[in-house]
Amino acid sequence: MHYLNKILLGDCEEVLKGIPENSVDLIVTSPPYADQRQQTYGGICPTKYVAWFLPKVDQFYRVLKPTGTFVLNIKERVVSGERHTYVIELILEMRRRGWLWTEEFMWHKKNSYPGKWPNRFRDNWERLLQFNKQKKFQMHQEEVMVPVGTWAKHRLVNLSDTDKIRDESRVGSGFGKNVSNWVGRRKVYPNNVIHMATESSNQNHSAVFPVALPTWFIKLFTSPGDTVLDPFMGSGSTAIAALKLGRNYIGVDINKQYVDLANQRINNSQTRLPGVGERGKRYPVKGQKEGVHSETY
Ligand SMILES: C[S@@+](CC[C@H](N)C(=O)[O-])C[C@H]1O[C@@H](n2cnc3c(N)ncnc32)[C@H](O)[C@@H]1O
Repeated sequence: MHYLNKILLGDCEEVLKGIPENSVDLIVTSPPYADQRQQTYGGICPTKYVAWFLPKVDQFYRVLKPTGTFVLNIKERVVSGERHTYVIELILEMRRRGWLWTEEFMWHKKNSYPGKWPNRFRDNWERLLQFNKQKKFQMHQEEVMVPVGTWAKHRLVNLSDTDKIRDESRVGSGFGKNVSNWVGRRKVYPNNVIHMATESSNQNHSAVFPVALPTWFIKLFTSPGDTVLDPFMGSGSTAIAALKLGRNYIGVDINKQYVDLANQRINNSQTRLPGVGERGKRYPVKGQKEGVHSETY
């Protein structure tokens, strides 16, 4: 398993051909946006984005286990005054190729500053599209539970009779709720909006996502010892998150400078937290060695 816990240098479409099928538990990644970052790592024209992405996605499908999940961080840019449709087109094409579009999370960027545009407001959120190969996939909802919130203090004090039975939806959706179920609960499942600040720009990479973002999905969709792939690794955020949680990582980036930067960040994070997981636990991982290496494919 020469590819485990390494950042591989090259085009992920080619590099992933060297990774066995059904070997990855989670893919979490943020690809280059259409035309967005031409100055730094080459943009892809919005009209060619889907054609550029699909052969890569075919490799993701091949290496992902049937119980695995693919989380894609993406956002359509504005072209000639309107939102381009390449993300929507990509979803439709991926469904045609067998992917299930299971869910969509919203990453609300908590720390963005105000802006002024003539015909729109600040873009303050990004999509995290969840794709799966089958309806049954690995998921650990209890790992991302959140405090019940202040609403419970008021709402659960005086329960009506209806609150104590399952109240079926009036629109016949099949959904129902029994409010009394929440009494005494301190933690509940979160919703699909993730509130996280963007990472500061001092990582020497122009499009870093916060380590907390892959961390959240790694906890939700994998177990210790599993393998997490980021085929557009950038500055190494996903690898850092995987290591902290005792998962293996596979990273790919086409840019040597970013591979070096990622390895540097990974080494620094391991120096600060040698082998210690997020909650102070030591997670032993099969085949995981201290230090990182890169290989050119
Ligand atoms: C949006 S950035 C990823 C940032 C990353 N999430 C982080 O937190 O640092 C996209 C990365 O994809 C890399 N890239 C672009 N085309 C690629 C390709 N065909 N194969 C692998 N990496 C590629 C770029 O060099 C860039 O570092």
